[in-house]
Amino acid sequence: MKKYLFVFVLVLVAMVSTVSLASANGGPHGGYSATTDACAGCHRAHTAPGPRLLLANSTYDLCVTCHGSAGAGANTNVDDGLYLSSRDDAPGGANGDVGATNTPDNAPLLGGGFVNYGLTAVSSTHNADGTTAAAWGNGVNRGVTANLAAGNLSCASCHDPHGSPNYRILKATINGNAVAVQQVDEGAAKDYDTEQWGTGMSSVCAACHSAYHVTTGGSGSDPVVAASGGYAHDIDMNYSYGGANVNPEAIGFGGYTLPLAETAPAFGRVVCSTCHMSHGTAAQMSGFAAGSYDPFGPGLGAGAIPSGDSALLRLDNRGVCEVCHQK
Ligand code: HEC
Ligand code: HEC
Ligand code: HEC
Ligand code: HEC
Ligand code: HEC
Ligand code: HEC
Repeated sequence: MKKYLFVFVLVLVAMVSTVSLASANGGPHGGYSATTDACAGCHRAHTAPGPRLLLANSTYDLCVTCHGSAGAGANTNVDDGLYLSSRDDAPGGANGDVGATNTPDNAPLLGGGFVNYGLTAVSSTHNADGTTAAAWGNGVNRGVTANLAAGNLSCASCHDPHGSPNYRILKATINGNAVAVQQVDEGAAKDYDTEQWGTGMSSVCAACHSAYHVTTGGSGSDPVVAASGGYAHDIDMNYSYGGANVNPEAIGFGGYTLPLAETAPAFGRVVCSTCHMSHGTAAQMSGFAAGSYDPFGPGLGAGAIPSGDSALLRLDNRGVCEVCHQK
C-alpha cells in the first residue's frame, strides 16, 4: 500500500514539474529549464543560415515559419490574423503549445494581420520584415519620422522571443525605452480574440512614437501641446465624454464599438490600441479620409496623413470618431 502511494506521489511530482516547465507565454517562448531543448528550435551553434545564429535567414522569416499562413508550428496565424486551432490543437501539443482553450477556431486575432484581416487584404501594417527603419514622432514632432535606435523594424522590435514579464511577451525595453504592460490574459488558457489589456498598453506604442503620446486633458486646444507638432487628441484618459455615447465599448454607434483598456473606474481607458491595430488592418479609407485631400497645403505644417493609407485604424474612414462622439 505504502509502495503504491510512493509511486503515486512520484508520478504526481513528475506531472507537476512538467507542467511548471510549460511557459505561460505559450510555445517556445521562455520558462526554460536548465537543460531545455527550446534553443535548438530557433538557433544553430555552427551552421546557422541567419544572423544571431538563427535557423532562418532573418528574425521575421523565423517567426513566420511557425506564425505565418504557411507555418504549422503555432495556432496564431499572424499573416491572416486568424487563430487556427487545427494547426496544433492539443494542450501541451507537439510544439509545446499550452492549448489556447479560450479562443475559438478561426477567431480573428487581436493584433490584426500582416497580409489579410477578416479575409480582406490589409490596407496598412507595421512592416515587420526588416525593411523599415523610421517611425512617426520617434523623438521628433508629430507628423515627422525618425529612425529607430535599434535599426529596422522586425517582430523582435516589439516581442522578446525568449519571453518577458509583459503581456504577449512584449519586450521590457523597446527602442531604448522601458515598457511595462500588465499581463491580464488568463495564463495557460489564452484568449487571443477578446481585448482585455491592463495598464501600460500605450507604453508599447509610445516607445517608438513618443510625440503621439499626449496625455494632457484638453490637449486638443492647448497651445503648449501645439508647440510640439500641432494640437493633439488626449490619450490615456479614463473614458468619460459628455456626448450621447456613455459607453463606446459596450454600446458604440451604428453597430460599431471600440475596446478600452481594463483600468477602472468607469468603463476603462482610451489607449492607442483603442483606435489602432498592432499588426495590420483591412479598414478602407476614402474621400476626406483617404489622406490626399489637403486644402491647406503643406505650409500650415499639418501632420501629413500617408496618402491612401489606413494608419492601422480599426474602422473604415473615421468610424472611430463616431463611436465616441456621434456627431
Ligand atoms: C522562438 C525562437 C527562439 C528560441 C526558442 C530561442 N531564441 Fe534566442 N533568439 C531568437 C531570435 C529571433 C533572436 C534575435 C532577436 C532579434 O532579432 O533581435 C535571438 C537572439 C538570441 C541571443 C542574442 C540576443 C540576446 O537576447 O542576448 C541569444 C544569446 C540567444 N538568442 C540565446 C538563446 C538561448 C540560450 C535559447 C534557449 C534557452 C534561445 N535563444 C531560444 C529566437 C529564439
Ligand atoms: C509594433 C510592434 C509589434 C510588431 C512589429 C509585431 N507585434 Fe505582435 N503584437 C504586438 C502587440 C501590441 C500585440 C498585442 C495585441 C493586442 O492584444 O491587442 C501583439 C500580439 C501578437 C500575437 C498574439 C496574437 C494577436 O494577434 O494578438 C502574436 C502571435 C504576435 N504578436 C506575433 C508577432 C509576429 C510573428 C510578428 C512579426 C511578423 C509581430 N508579432 C510583430 C506588437 C507587435
Ligand atoms: C517553433 C515555432 C515558433 C517560432 C519559431 C516562434 N513562435 Fe511564437 N509561439 C509559438 C507557439 C506554439 C505559441 C503559442 C500560441 C500558439 O499556438 O499560437 C507562440 C506564441 C507567441 C506569442 C503569444 C505569447 C502570449 O503571451 O500568448 C507571441 C507574441 C509570439 N509567439 C511571437 C513570436 C515571435 C516574435 C517569433 C519570432 C521571433 C516567434 N513567436 C517564433 C511557436 C513559435
Ligand atoms: C519598435 C518601434 C515601434 C513600435 C513599438 C510601434 N511602432 Fe508604429 N511604426 C513604427 C514604424 C517604423 C512605422 C513606419 C513603418 C511602417 O509603416 O511599417 C510605424 C508606423 C505606424 C503607423 C502608420 C502606419 C501606416 O502605414 O500609416 C501607425 C498608425 C502606428 N505605427 C501606430 C502604432 C501603434 C498604435 C503602436 C502600439 C500598438 C505602435 N505603432 C508601436 C514603429 C513602431
Ligand atoms: C474612445 C473614445 C474617443 C474616440 C474614438 C475619439 N474621441 Fe475625441 N474625445 C474623447 C474624449 C473622452 C475627449 C475629452 C478629452 C480630454 O481632453 O480629456 C475627446 C475630445 C475631443 C475633442 C476636443 C479636444 C479639445 O481639447 O479641445 C475633439 C475635437 C475630438 N475629441 C475629436 C475627435 C476626432 C476627430 C476623433 C476621430 C479621429 C475622435 N475625437 C475620436 C473620446 C474619443
Ligand atoms: C481617438 C483615436 C486615436 C487614438 C486614441 C490614437 N490615434 Fe493615432 N491616429 C488616429 C487617426 C484618426 C489617424 C489618422 C491621421 C489623423 O487623423 O491624424 C491616426 C494616425 C496615427 C499615425 C500615423 C501618422 C499620422 O500622424 O497620420 C501614428 C503614427 C499614430 N496615429 C500613432 C498613435 C499612437 C502612438 C497613439 C497612442 C499614443 C495613437 N495614435 C492614438 C486616431 C487615434
